[in-house]
Amino acid sequence: MKRAAILLLGLGLGLSAALPARASASEVVVYSARKEDLLRPVLDAFQKDTGIKVTLLTGKAGDLARRIEVEKSDPRGDVFLGTTAGIAELLRRKGLLSPYFSPAAQEVPEEFKAPDGSWVGVTGRVRVLIYNKNRVSDAELPRSFFDLTDPKWKGKVAVASMGERTTVSWLAASMALRGEEATRQYVRGLRDNGLKVLNNNTEVRKAVARGEYAIGITNHYYYLLQLHDDPASPVGILYPDQGADGIGAPMFSITASILNGAKHPEAARALIDYLLGPRGNRLLVQGEFEIPLIPGIPVPGEDKGVKGLGQFKKARVTQVQLADLETRVEKLFGPFLIP
Ligand SMILES: [Fe+2]
Repeated sequence: MKRAAILLLGLGLGLSAALPARASASEVVVYSARKEDLLRPVLDAFQKDTGIKVTLLTGKAGDLARRIEVEKSDPRGDVFLGTTAGIAELLRRKGLLSPYFSPAAQEVPEEFKAPDGSWVGVTGRVRVLIYNKNRVSDAELPRSFFDLTDPKWKGKVAVASMGERTTVSWLAASMALRGEEATRQYVRGLRDNGLKVLNNNTEVRKAVARGEYAIGITNHYYYLLQLHDDPASPVGILYPDQGADGIGAPMFSITASILNGAKHPEAARALIDYLLGPRGNRLLVQGEFEIPLIPGIPVPGEDKGVKGLGQFKKARVTQVQLADLETRVEKLFGPFLIP
């Protein structure tokens, strides 16, 4: 009897020591700028593996940021997932994030992490060109984003408005690597060449697949989403600016961060660990058709020409550098890039 009680006590202690976070953390509230259906598989797996219930609120990154600020004295969210680092960096500067260095984040390259641990990239996306194979032959393909101001592309190119954070980050990469004046000239050149601004990246991929535009400036996973919707789509993917003097294709990361004053900090940390762990990250990458930032996770679409980290020339710019330029980009180009 006595022995059994001691044994049980011992087991109990062992368990609570092994599972300090999970045992008491039963809920986590996620504010996400990523679409629910893309996140659902990983969040369901997290819930199943840890017993922590996930409540998800999705919205535009900017709207969620405003909500986080309004709620700062009584935070309702625990984790913020952004589509680029820009909004997370703004939240960090306002003191709205709580730093966390996840052990699982060690292998994420430094350029995708906030130096103070406020946010971490969990997956990556690449800015590419998609094209309609019936409208552009291989020989005619542009080699650079900056070729698209050529008269031969007049009226043939579409891009999403700045309602898509990645449109902002794409021009921020140009600002960082080519300077403000060259970027202003570039945007003017695109506009003069009849650049079509659509509401979002989904409209861009669909319009290119239908052949309304020969070329779309978008993110690599829209190419995969298009093929997922309709495998017969005549679309191709092109990594621009890959030559010796090319600036490379910009990459952006989906970022995860914990809100300052979060009510469920242990569950929040457990979720970030999970998103960067082998099982969670694989599901996240697959669900989103994204590129893994940690080794050992397969690249979705590799058989369809999608390239993983290290397999293409990446623009030499950190997520913090991009974030720093985003407000300026919105001010300069927002008025031109409206649908
Ligand atoms: Fe997107």
